Amino acid sequence: MHTRLVCSETGETVPIDRLQNLSPAGRPLLADYDLEALRESFTPSVVRARKQRSFWRFWEVLPVARPEDAISLGEGCTPLLACERRGAFAGFERLFVKDEAFNPTGSFKARGMAAAITRAKALGAQVVALPSAGNAAGAATSYAARAGLGCVLFMPEDTPPANIVESVAGGARVFLVNGLIGDCGKLVRAGVERFGWFDLSTLKEPFRIEGKKTMGYELAFDLADHEGSGGLQLPDVILYPTGGGTGLIGMWKAFAEMERLGWIGSARPRMVVVQAEGCAPIVTAFRQGEERATPFPNARTVASGLRVPAAIGDFLMLRVLRESGGTAVTVTDDELLRGVDELSREQGIYACPEGGAVWAAARKLRDDGWLRSNERVVLFNTGAGLKYNHLVDTTGVPRIDHRDPDALSAIAGSMG
Ligand SMILES: Cc1ncc(COP(=O)(O)O)c(C=O)c1O
Repeated sequence: MHTRLVCSETGETVPIDRLQNLSPAGRPLLADYDLEALRESFTPSVVRARKQRSFWRFWEVLPVARPEDAISLGEGCTPLLACERRGAFAGFERLFVKDEAFNPTGSFKARGMAAAITRAKALGAQVVALPSAGNAAGAATSYAARAGLGCVLFMPEDTPPANIVESVAGGARVFLVNGLIGDCGKLVRAGVERFGWFDLSTLKEPFRIEGKKTMGYELAFDLADHEGSGGLQLPDVILYPTGGGTGLIGMWKAFAEMERLGWIGSARPRMVVVQAEGCAPIVTAFRQGEERATPFPNARTVASGLRVPAAIGDFLMLRVLRESGGTAVTVTDDELLRGVDELSREQGIYACPEGGAVWAAARKLRDDGWLRSNERVVLFNTGAGLKYNHLVDTTGVPRIDHRDPDALSAIAGSMG
C-alpha cells in the first residue's frame, strides 16, 4: 500500500486518505511506497507464483490494501510478441511488441483507469469526469460501470467513432465538444466546481500513472521469460507513443521502484518519445533543450491519442528522456499509417495508429544508426486497430454474386 503522495516538483506531501488532484504547487502528485519494508515479502518469485491473470499480481505497489479490493476487468498481462524477421522488420534481430490491444476496452488506458477508479471508489467518489481524445473515455466508462460510479466525458467532435460508441454503450454521459482536448479539460474543471465530480484527467489524478507503470513491471518479467533467463530483464530501448506521457513517466517510476526493491540494478532502457509531426510539443522541447514544452499550435493527426498539444507532465517526460539517454522522434500521418499496414500485414498485429507510429519511428532510428540491429527494442502498441476501422478504406473490396457459376474466373489470374 502506498504511504505518501508527493509533489513531483517540490517534494511536498499531501494526505493520502482523501481524494486528491494536483499538488498545492499545481503539479502532478506521485505515490510513494515503503519499498524497503516490502523487500522480504514482495519478490519476483512471489509474483511469478501468483495465479491472478491481471496486473494486480503487483498489488503491493498499487493503491489497495488487499488485492480483493481492486476494481478489475482483467487488465494487464498483455503479451510481449517477438517480431518475425521479414520484410521491413528484417533489420532487427530482437524487436518486440508489447501488445496492449489485449486489455479490456482494447487499449492500455484500462490500466490507468483500473487503478484510478479503484482508489476513487474507495475514497467515496460518486461521479468521475474527464476529457478524452479517445481510448481513455471507453476505459473510464467500463471501470466506472464496474464500480457503480457515474461517468461524465467531454470529447472533441473528431474523436474516433468507436470511442464514442463504447462510451455511450457503457452508460457514460457523453458530450462532444467543438474544440481540442484542452477545451474539454476546461469544461471538466467547470463541472468539478459546479457539480462536485471527481476529476480523472491524466496526471491531475495520482493513480492512473500507478496503473500505467505496471507496463514497466510486466516488461521485466516478459523479457526474462522470453529469454529463459529466470531473473528480470529490461530491454535496451523502449519506444512509446506519447500524448500526456503517463505511460512513459509511469514505466520510469516502475524501474526506480524495482531498483529500490532490489529486483534490478541501475541500468535503464533508453526511452524514446514518438509523436506525430502535426502535434509534437515534447519532441520540439527536447530538440531545443527546454525543460518545459510550449503548447503546440493547430494540433492535427489521425492518431487521436497523440493529439495532446500541452501536457502537464511535460517536464517529467523531458527529464526521463535526458536521464535515460533517450531521444524524441516525429513521424508523419502517412508514415504512421504505413506503419499500421506493415505491422498488420507482416506481423499479424492490427495495431492502432499510435502503434504504427512507434514502428515507423523505429525504422527511422534504425536507418540513421541510432538503433543497432542486435539491440533489444520494445515497441508499445497501445491499442487495438479495430478501434480505428474508420481509417481503413474498404470501398475497393470486390463483390461476388454467389449464384454466378463463373464467379471465381474473374480472380483466377490474380491468385498465385
Ligand atoms: C492508443 C493510444 N496511444 C497512446 C496514447 C498516449 O498515451 P499517454 O497519455 O500515456 O502519453 C493514447 C492516449 O490517448 C492512446 O489512446
